Amino acid sequence: MAEVNLFSPLTIRGVTLRNRIAVSPMCQYSCEDGFATDWHLVHLGSRAVGGAAMVMAEAAAVEARGRISPGDLGIYKDEHIAPLARAAEFVKKMGAVAGIQIAHAGRKASCRVPWEGGLALPQAAGGWQTVAPSDVPFLAGDPVPTALNQAEIHDITKAFAAAARRALAAGFELLEIHGAHGYLSHEFLSPLSNLRTDQYGGSFENRVRFLVETTEAVRAVWPGHLPLFVRISATDWKEGGWDIDEAVELAKILKTKGVDLIDCSAGALVPDGKFQPGTGPNIPFADRIRREAGIATGAVGMITEPHQADGIIRSGSADLVLIARQFLRDPYWPLHAAKTLGVEFKPPVQYARAFLA
Ligand SMILES: Cc1cc2nc3c(=O)[nH]c(=O)nc-3n(C[C@H](O)[C@H](O)[C@H](O)COP(=O)(O)O)c2cc1C
Repeated sequence: MAEVNLFSPLTIRGVTLRNRIAVSPMCQYSCEDGFATDWHLVHLGSRAVGGAAMVMAEAAAVEARGRISPGDLGIYKDEHIAPLARAAEFVKKMGAVAGIQIAHAGRKASCRVPWEGGLALPQAAGGWQTVAPSDVPFLAGDPVPTALNQAEIHDITKAFAAAARRALAAGFELLEIHGAHGYLSHEFLSPLSNLRTDQYGGSFENRVRFLVETTEAVRAVWPGHLPLFVRISATDWKEGGWDIDEAVELAKILKTKGVDLIDCSAGALVPDGKFQPGTGPNIPFADRIRREAGIATGAVGMITEPHQADGIIRSGSADLVLIARQFLRDPYWPLHAAKTLGVEFKPPVQYARAFLA
């Protein structure tokens, strides 16, 4: 069998990634009413030019109140499709797979954009009432979220499916459900944020119900030849919270629901977790879920060096590396990584003269 490394192609269902390097979803907080702009075309497009195998558009909110900030990307109305389609088409033209993450921010919605401090945005200043499994805020002193009733939970599940249909209409070939970082799905998973006593809270089976039902609803409309990923936080990094043992069990269930890859992040459910995303050691989680749940995994967090990324793939800890901040520093990271690793990997013809040996 051929050796697998960072530049081996990866086929999932009917889609082939040209290597194992993906752009991790990154909110750009640059929309109005959820609409993608030229920023998204250039931001996503330039990373496809740079050689990423898959470029995942940032968390796109499945309903307006599921946006982290008023600047978030949305996929909650049909009018959002056209500008997204423009970006997806260009990414594909550059030889990359166009992906998108769909999300609901739950109790972490209605915040200011990061460069305005990122704290809760009061309703008087353009914010809105947030929703969550239970009426427990993220930070003490934050506006209290409204606990969802079961009919409202089912409506959000349907909103995820509608978002998946729009992503398909926009030409995306890979979809990721955001189940991490303390947003709505993760809030259901964790006993620290889910204090419900109905069938959506309490036992492991009840806490995973929302994400499992959402996955079923999405898979039902997302075509069988296209890959579906789920991003999870493998741990809350906090005593009494969601942990890697539960994450492994969830991954086993998601596999039976038609999920192809678990994108393994961690943290961000509580403000005082031991590590926050991008600061903790996540790769062992990808490794453990891959081995114990028998499903493909993505590794993310502090991956910056070509040999490091290559080692993650060669060791079998993960099938894909997702890179966020390093891609902001260097949109051409895959082209530079290929050079470092001595692999031939051609840039678009327009740039060929700059990448001669
Ligand atoms: C500007 C920015 C925006 C982000 N937005 C998202 C997002 O939309 N969805 C998500 O799952 N993670 C998001 N993240 C987290 C990254 O995808 C990634 O998991 C994290 O930054 C760790 O990877 P890194 O060390 O390569 O940056 C964001 C990170 C950054 C820096």
